[in-house]
Amino acid sequence: EKGGYEHFMLKEIHEQPKAVRATISSRIAKDNSAVVLDELKWNKDFLNSFNRIFIVACGTAYHAGLVGKYYIEKMARIPVECDIASEFRYRSPIVDENTLMIVVSQSGETSDTLAALKEAKRLGAKTLAVTNVVGSSIAREADQVVYTWAGPEIAVASTKAYTTQLIVMLLLGLYMAGIRETMPQERITELIRGLREIPTQIGQTLEDEDPIKTFAKQYGFNEDVFFIGRSLDYAVALEGSLKLKEISYIHAEAYAAGELKHGTLALIVDSIPVIALATQKSVYEKTLSNIKEVKARDAVVIGIASADDTELEKYVDHVIKVPETDELLIPLLAVVPLQLLAYYAAITRGCDVDKPRNLAKSVTVE
Ligand code: F6R
Repeated sequence: EKGGYEHFMLKEIHEQPKAVRATISSRIAKDNSAVVLDELKWNKDFLNSFNRIFIVACGTAYHAGLVGKYYIEKMARIPVECDIASEFRYRSPIVDENTLMIVVSQSGETSDTLAALKEAKRLGAKTLAVTNVVGSSIAREADQVVYTWAGPEIAVASTKAYTTQLIVMLLLGLYMAGIRETMPQERITELIRGLREIPTQIGQTLEDEDPIKTFAKQYGFNEDVFFIGRSLDYAVALEGSLKLKEISYIHAEAYAAGELKHGTLALIVDSIPVIALATQKSVYEKTLSNIKEVKARDAVVIGIASADDTELEKYVDHVIKVPETDELLIPLLAVVPLQLLAYYAAITRGCDVDKPRNLAKSVTVE
């Protein structure tokens, strides 16, 4: 049942090319000109009726939502608020019939997310579920559903569900941008072309696990790790940090790289591992200067960079490279080494990878 892998988590990490391909396929036009979401049939009037979109979810699905906020705002130019489901309901959110509520949930059964969805519906919002389980409570409750086609996810730590959620967020951004005409056609086509390469490129990032195994052995017994990045790299840093915490029990913090000097830099001490994501070209120089700040405090820095990067290795201790793609798509690749790092750190520490302590796959209590 684990297909020759020692754990479901490793199997599911390796299933990502297939899961992502399934989630993309039949949703992009043959000529790469548009995203086709037959399940939605939205039009300009429908989208123009929204003055705000909420994306609400828990845990890893929330992290996918953060990327979704970035995509939708950048591409479709509609304001998006992203919230944790257990917080959403208790702050009297401003929701009405001009609100689109998107909930993201692998299982489709998370009670906080379901409750947030019901509350938004009660307040008059239009609702869309992004879920992996056909016929789940959340799928049934929402007005419309876009499924991630990741296949069953068994390991408690979510991996292929996350990458397929990112794909759906990207498809939604492109779909809305196409309808609202908020993006040049050439840019849409360019991103769709890039998207077609992503499954193969995820496969390439999975080809060489040895350096990651080595890092996990070297740093697996540290008690604290920092993840830093800016922009989309920050969203991925949050996910990398959660993965490491939940299965290896190493204390990890994800920090927006520019925020370090507003307090946390004091915690960056000699030999502390810092995973620095530097895949975003638009903020590259700024990220690099934050990396220099942590190096100046003798942190051990593992950089995550695009294959064409020749700069980062001059400033950090190790670099893990992921294949070259558009900076909007690179989170789909950058998260993979972080998943593997969490997995091998847990192995180094002898943790029960598929069933981490105190966690359940589907959280049906609030
Ligand atoms: C982390 C993880 C959890 C879930 C969260 C939401 O690896 O698995 O953080 O992402 O409990 O679950 P779903 O997506 O089923 O609503």
